[in-house]
Amino acid sequence: MDADALEKSIRHDIDTADGYDALEQTRIKYLGRKGLVTGLLKDIKDAPPDERPKLGAVSNKLKKLTESLLEEKLSVLRAAQQGSRFYKKPHDATLPAHDGMTGRRHVLATVFRELKDIFVGMGYTLASGPMVELEYYNFQALNFPDEHPSRDEQDTFYITDDMLLRTHTSPVQVRYMEENKPPLKIIAAGRVFRNESIDPSHAAEFHQVEGLYVDTDVSLADLKLDVEIFIQQLFGSKTQVRFRPSFFPFTEPSAEVDMTCVVCQGKGCSVCQQTGWIELMGSGMVHPNVFRAVGYDPEIYSGFAFGLGVDRVAMMKYGIDDIRLFLGNDLRFLRQF
Ligand code: PHE
Repeated sequence: MDADALEKSIRHDIDTADGYDALEQTRIKYLGRKGLVTGLLKDIKDAPPDERPKLGAVSNKLKKLTESLLEEKLSVLRAAQQGSRFYKKPHDATLPAHDGMTGRRHVLATVFRELKDIFVGMGYTLASGPMVELEYYNFQALNFPDEHPSRDEQDTFYITDDMLLRTHTSPVQVRYMEENKPPLKIIAAGRVFRNESIDPSHAAEFHQVEGLYVDTDVSLADLKLDVEIFIQQLFGSKTQVRFRPSFFPFTEPSAEVDMTCVVCQGKGCSVCQQTGWIELMGSGMVHPNVFRAVGYDPEIYSGFAFGLGVDRVAMMKYGIDDIRLFLGNDLRFLRQF
């Protein structure tokens, strides 16, 4: 290696040495007993006499250069180490504490726990299903006719022809009944998706809790009883409940459940549009076709189902006027709960 190449290599190696060990290896490589610079100095005595002074000068220059570069790098490494030692200093317990950012439960999770506790207390167990759902479970097995408007892409996020983001938690009913025989009493909860135009009371992602009870001789009276107990536990024993005829493809008969307005206690206000009532959930007796789809005999079994929006419950409980706040990730909102 000629002197120029050697100098280049020395500078490069010292420059890239990233610690004491690496630097020491570099020192040995050039200045050790068998080092490259040391070798150069040894070679002098074998060189023709008239070349010796020049060779000597070059070798000595390289040796000095290497030494000073090593020294320089060593102080750089020491400074870096001191820097990190500074940060590793033990904590000073006399310093004032910073205002610790503690995590907290999301308001929807809190409300869901409350709902779950009430239902578990009433004998329901928890079931779950996928958010990316087959068209079959979301619609077909639930007795939705092929031309039902909610199957439309304007309401449903399709992923493929037969796969979609579930538009309600009712498909969990079907999945659960396929796997289990009656009697059964479950709630299913989770996120649902609809291709809505977004406004303070409509979001494209929201949350439902669904109840299902199947046994022999389940009647509309059982549905009314459970729904009433649930609502009164959630909003207080003075809350009144009424059933309004409605329609869902998977229940017959179907009913919309209203409760007395939590804001005005039924007197009439802007929240309930002066009616005194607020619509809370859908419900009904499980349609025979749904039982047939899961292999239950509708002559033997009957059941009820109901579904409600967790977001709406949270809005009523906490007086929140915009559903978009729940998934908006604004800490100023979330820290209030
Ligand atoms: N799945 C219905 C909805 O999303 C709610 C519902 C559930 C109605 C169970 C009746 C029975 O609107």
